[in-house]
Amino acid sequence: MKKKVLLMGASGSGKTSMRSLIFSNNPASLTARLGATIDVEQNHVRFLGDLILNLWDCGGQDAFMDSYLTTQRGTIFKQVGVMIYVFDVESREILKDLEYYRDCMTGLQQYSPDAAVFLLIHKMDLVREPRQPTFLKRKQELEEASGDISVSVLATSIYDESLYKAWSNIVHTLIPNANVLSRHLNVFANACSATEVILFERTTFLVIATSSQANSDGHDHEAEAMYTKRYERTSELIKYFKHSCTRAREEFRSLEMELYDFTAVLDEMTRNTYVMVVVHDPGIEIAALKMNIKLARRKFE
Ligand code: GTP
Repeated sequence: MKKKVLLMGASGSGKTSMRSLIFSNNPASLTARLGATIDVEQNHVRFLGDLILNLWDCGGQDAFMDSYLTTQRGTIFKQVGVMIYVFDVESREILKDLEYYRDCMTGLQQYSPDAAVFLLIHKMDLVREPRQPTFLKRKQELEEASGDISVSVLATSIYDESLYKAWSNIVHTLIPNANVLSRHLNVFANACSATEVILFERTTFLVIATSSQANSDGHDHEAEAMYTKRYERTSELIKYFKHSCTRAREEFRSLEMELYDFTAVLDEMTRNTYVMVVVHDPGIEIAALKMNIKLARRKFE
């Protein structure tokens, strides 16, 4: 199953940088060396089992944009599963950015009316605190420019976990059986007496599913009491750790943590996933958790 993901936005807005962080395990500090993307760079990323993301990173210089909207229009906008449009929050050409965005939306509506649309207000680290008012103002502008089309607007930066949160949201819309996975994780969490079980994709370390059950009002009160950014922060930290392992010429395999009030084990679940099991019961041994992961592997494969 192949899903086409369009990554669009003005030149220098940060598209290739986020792609290299999420999909290639590169650190944010190296993104300054990236050159401008010429035309479209296509990548296939095997995501989960049969799910292949066909990522189209569309260079944002005006000449390329004009060509996507005219001669290449059909090729670019057909069969799109998700369009991600990146806006540099510090852009000095907001009007031009919005005009190109509207034109791209028209193309998308014409060829892939069912595509999900994510708008990333990017480089939020450059905005002085408090950042929320700037975000809300830009969000409103973008929603107005989108007319009746439903869009998700998210704030991102390559220098914190917000990028992982946004991309986890994005890939979630593409995973067909995310709810089933969550149900299985709940069963597994109960079997391990775990507080929480989280499933990550192997290469990107994006969160695929978690065990936490939402209550009937749609809110997970117990989880809310915990640090709300914990999933994406874990993705970010593990990616850094994996990068450090590579630099030390070591391969990252698994991780065990025993702290004063909890134990966590991160281990391979299937060929494409890692699982993290968090327990708060000091009586539960790491070896038992690892054994449970091993036994559950066949079920999740
Ligand atoms: P084209 O390939 O020309 O379309 O540009 P692009 O959108 O792919 O931009 P690219 O990823 O090459 O990034 C341009 C610059 O923005 C690089 O110097 C990055 O280091 C910088 N950048 C990317 N993301 C962020 C961010 O979140 N914060 C800050 N401060 N800089 C960023």
